Amino acid sequence: MKVGVFDSGIGGLTVVKSLLEHELFEEIIYFGDTARVPYGIKDKNTITRYAIEAVEFFKNFELDLIIVACNTVSAYALTEMRETSPCPIIGVVEAGILATSNALKDKKSNILVLGTKATINSKAYETGLNSLGFNNLQTKATGLFVPLVEEEIFSGEIIEATFKHYFEQISVPHAIILGCTHFPLLSEALQNYFGKDTILIHSGDAIVEHLRQKFDFKIKYKEPTLEFFASENPEALRAIAKSWLQLK
Ligand code: DGL
Repeated sequence: MKVGVFDSGIGGLTVVKSLLEHELFEEIIYFGDTARVPYGIKDKNTITRYAIEAVEFFKNFELDLIIVACNTVSAYALTEMRETSPCPIIGVVEAGILATSNALKDKKSNILVLGTKATINSKAYETGLNSLGFNNLQTKATGLFVPLVEEEIFSGEIIEATFKHYFEQISVPHAIILGCTHFPLLSEALQNYFGKDTILIHSGDAIVEHLRQKFDFKIKYKEPTLEFFASENPEALRAIAKSWLQLK
């Protein structure tokens, strides 16, 4: 299978990492809209317009599937993207909700949902979790995490100050949904802050779990073909991909 992976920037590389670890695809085409990141502070109309443009871009590749590796786009624009796409499209929000429900036996578990302002305002996670019987939720828009990750700042004083700013009123949850694909890069810092008993739900692992339920993956692709595109400075994105994904 040939898959397209889309994010507003470099965050979706955390999803590519999971896809590579599980050796699911023969060919992966990544597109990051680096010229217009962040999406998380924009409104539905703008996010949808950009997302439809990404579908147009992917039409050059005869894909079997598009994975929207961006929670913000998944929360707002999947329906509109599907209307113009020649291939199926799946998003990370639905996958994250199912993965959370699979990870937590107790419906009373306290779940902290982190995401961009747009994702949190959409209430996509809350609605999905409530419908599965999870009602003990805390939600927090932590948009500053996006530029920090884009700057490759994953620990240290700035991260500690940002956590203090966002989490002062937050009680220690049983699980945290990393509802933005940039956030897994802060996993270690979050785990140190909240303690190792808190489960972290990662969009990449969630999408792999979801894909395995939907499709029958018989072949393993140890060395898939990878191509990286960006709307601005693709060389910078390729350099980050190379280092994060430990590519040769
Ligand atoms: N990586 C995107 C997400 O999963 C958000 C980053 C942005 O604000 O563009 O929501």
